[in-house]
Amino acid sequence: MLLFVTALLALVGPTWGENPAVRVTLTDKGLQYGKHASAGWIQDTLEMVTLPDISGTIHVFYFDVDYTLSGTKIEKCDFPEPVVEFYKDSRGLKMSISGLSVSLAGEWRTQYGILHNSGSYNMALFDVDVTTVVQLGEDADGRLSVTAVQCLAKVGSMDVQLNGQFSWLYRAAVQHHLGDIRAEIEAKICPVVNQSIVNFEHHLQTMNVSFDLNEALTLEMPLTNSTVVDASSLSLGFKGEFYSRKNHSEPPFASQPFTLALQPGYMLSLGLSEFTLNSATYGYFSAGLLQILVNGSMIPSFFPLHLNTSAMGPYVPQLPNMFPGLAMILQVYATEVPLFSFKPDSILFDPKTTVKAFAIQKNGTCTPLFKLSLGFDFRGKAWIADGKLKGSANMKNLTVTLQESEVGTFETKAIEDLVRKGMKFTMIMLNRRLSGGMDLPRLKHAELVNTVLRVDKGFIAISSDFKVSLTEMFTDAQIGLFQ
Ligand SMILES: *[C@@H]1O[C@H](CO)[C@@H](O)[C@H](O)[C@H]1NC(C)=O
Ligand SMILES: *[C@@H]1O[C@H](CO)[C@@H](O)[C@H](O)[C@H]1NC(C)=O
Ligand SMILES: *[C@@H]1O[C@H](CO)[C@@H](O)[C@H](O)[C@H]1NC(C)=O
Ligand SMILES: *[C@@H]1O[C@H](CO)[C@@H](O)[C@H](O)[C@H]1NC(C)=O
Ligand SMILES: *[C@@H]1O[C@H](CO)[C@@H](O)[C@H](O)[C@H]1NC(C)=O
Ligand SMILES: *[C@@H]1O[C@H](CO)[C@@H](O)[C@H](O)[C@H]1NC(C)=O
Ligand SMILES: *[C@@H]1O[C@H](CO)[C@@H](O)[C@H](O)[C@H]1NC(C)=O
Ligand SMILES: *[C@@H]1O[C@H](CO)[C@@H](O)[C@H](O)[C@H]1NC(C)=O
Repeated sequence: MLLFVTALLALVGPTWGENPAVRVTLTDKGLQYGKHASAGWIQDTLEMVTLPDISGTIHVFYFDVDYTLSGTKIEKCDFPEPVVEFYKDSRGLKMSISGLSVSLAGEWRTQYGILHNSGSYNMALFDVDVTTVVQLGEDADGRLSVTAVQCLAKVGSMDVQLNGQFSWLYRAAVQHHLGDIRAEIEAKICPVVNQSIVNFEHHLQTMNVSFDLNEALTLEMPLTNSTVVDASSLSLGFKGEFYSRKNHSEPPFASQPFTLALQPGYMLSLGLSEFTLNSATYGYFSAGLLQILVNGSMIPSFFPLHLNTSAMGPYVPQLPNMFPGLAMILQVYATEVPLFSFKPDSILFDPKTTVKAFAIQKNGTCTPLFKLSLGFDFRGKAWIADGKLKGSANMKNLTVTLQESEVGTFETKAIEDLVRKGMKFTMIMLNRRLSGGMDLPRLKHAELVNTVLRVDKGFIAISSDFKVSLTEMFTDAQIGLFQ
């Protein structure tokens, strides 16, 4: 169970004092689903466990005989539904199982001086109660950590049956010492539980807290020391910041706090601040990737713009006379970091773009002609339908202003109309893509279902249920639960 919760939350990835830009909240519905999904798996896993040796001394007739029970395996385990709850007091989880019955089998060995005897045994434990409390925290690198802070184990009653040639010698003594053996067994349970938590903690230490998105960007997802646990949810805050892989510089804007409302009807909520998206555009911008050189062969032939000075008459009337018959090239780049802004139910985007036009002389020299400043104003919407992220966008406003000119001043109205025409076409293509939708990111062994998305002030809130395949998940992760 613990494995489930922590593995789930750690799937995504110390920046003390920063506002988390990504927040993931697990609700009680999610916790109970996880408990249910992992119960069968835990039972299967338990049946593969070899328990530590148990040894002690029993009085047989008048002698103190040392005994060891070894190679103990769980043969069958009647696994009642465990109780798992968020545990505010320790910023973690409390898990308990009560009324567990287990049948065990292994080897017994006795020693008195040089006399040895051995055989096999069967044991049944009844009414086993185990309660454990784990605390969630962060290590110095912002990885999730789990620590056992409390463990209680109690065995209600038990029965032992010895087999083997000389087993009759010890039977009465074993019955007499059942209480001691039970205490020995009780004392072994918490170390095993603690060790499994330590093993899981080791596994968590191997998780990455940064991920390369593509050649340009890397996403940093350490925890930001803002884990909140209350009676109905567990919420983790992640840094959620993209950086350019070439230029790891901080953007001139900071992550703003936001409050993700609890949605108890969904298993999981995810809050994604506009900061995360804007850190990505900043990453592209600071790496110098938001620029392009446009030449004639890149403009579709049906579009009424030919990058030839002689064909520019309708837009810059003096150009054909000043520089006749030359090919042109346009340098298009973002003037400043383009920023997205999330408002309730809409996404605003108003990138400022500069276009520099050059004529290419016969000898290859580029002669600057003019420089335009383009201001766009886009509004968009995003939602989730049919398991896909969909959206729509439209251009609300466009301004074209002449910044500089080497060819004398001219009216920008014709160019503005041209850009508007081009954008109209672009928006049709874009909206076709957006309405087709994008598949939701699929984690390796988890799938989001019943997902809804809402754009809020400064962040996007996604609420979802999920389906996991735990067996695969843990086999893959090679989590040694009880080595
Ligand atoms: C298990 O861990 C808890 C918390 O660290 C500790 O209180 C308890 O004594 C440990 N139990 C054993 C048997 O090691
Ligand atoms: C962590 O990242 C490294 C390098 O990108 C990768 O090789 C490794 O498999 C990752 N580890 C995990 C547990 O994802
Ligand atoms: C993390 O937060 C906890 C509680 O909010 C605080 O006690 C602890 O000092 C913080 N750790 C760091 C390294 O800032
Ligand atoms: C990295 O980006 C910053 C901000 O845009 C810029 O000032 C700096 O020159 C860049 N460094 C490199 C090596 O490109
Ligand atoms: C236009 O640019 C593309 C890509 O940079 C290049 O492959 C092509 O040869 C260029 N065409 C002309 C006519 O310069
Ligand atoms: C530009 O257009 C003129 C007139 O159509 C033509 O003569 C000239 O070859 C063109 N220049 C280039 C570089 O294509
Ligand atoms: C290229 O030609 C232009 C115009 O004919 C001229 O002004 C410029 O000096 C030439 N550049 C070189 C490097 O020859
Ligand atoms: C378009 O933008 C310009 C310049 O920012 C502004 O003056 C104008 O009012 C805007 N028009 C609309 C319809 O928003």
